[in-house]
Amino acid sequence: MTRVPFVAGNWKMNHTATAAGQWCDALRERLAAAPLPDGLELGVAPAFPALPRVAAEIAAGLPLTLIAQNAHRELSGAFTGAVSVPMLLDVGCRRVILGHSERREIFGETDALIARKLRTAVENGLPPILCIGETEPEREAGRTEVVLEQQLQRGLAEARAEQLDELVVAYEPVWAIGTGRHATPEQVSAAHAFVRATLAGILPPEQAARLRILYGGSVQPGNAEPLARLEEVDGFLVGGASLEAASFEEIARATARAKGLEGA
Ligand code: PGA
Repeated sequence: MTRVPFVAGNWKMNHTATAAGQWCDALRERLAAAPLPDGLELGVAPAFPALPRVAAEIAAGLPLTLIAQNAHRELSGAFTGAVSVPMLLDVGCRRVILGHSERREIFGETDALIARKLRTAVENGLPPILCIGETEPEREAGRTEVVLEQQLQRGLAEARAEQLDELVVAYEPVWAIGTGRHATPEQVSAAHAFVRATLAGILPPEQAARLRILYGGSVQPGNAEPLARLEEVDGFLVGGASLEAASFEEIARATARAKGLEGA
């Protein structure tokens, strides 16, 4: 089963449009000096005001998938401060992150809301990266699998299987996000195998086998390669280390090497 490895940067509330332009310049220079092999997808999720700036770079040839960090559950209406799926598509987004632990914890998003947003996204042609992951107390209580299964089942509850061909799942243990403590290869391997088995219970197994499962949580140039060597790891969702084009590109290169892409 070949799944195209995917390395996606999540800038969170960082980088103005100007800084995003500088990041794109730096990435372009690095790729011109040392091209990345084919068969690897790169993506970046800027804050909303920086989306048009990065979209222009992509239109000019920078090989990135433009990702939104969030979207509203409705298509339009009286929702001051919110951004809708059609707005994101119009500006060039081709994916949206849903269910990030910061949205769950800081903004109080529930599985039910995430499911509703996910339905809106897939019905309107914006495939999601659905983030799931356990907290440290949940892991210590031996509840990791229960939490992952619930978040998957509830998050996908409103979508139909045929709408989920482009679904990406990001396994992001909350205790590893922004802490410098990444999960061990054993923990990642076990969690990803569990996520895939759970997906195979929700969706037709052939479809579940085709979906990409990313790992996220303190991914750095120095730890990406052993994690990317794991069969069930199809790439990464990278926060802090994606803010610099250099470290983002190093993680992409390490992933290409680990996956044995030609020319890596
Ligand atoms: P981190 O963030 O790489 O800074 O740990 C990952 C994420 O939140 O997706």
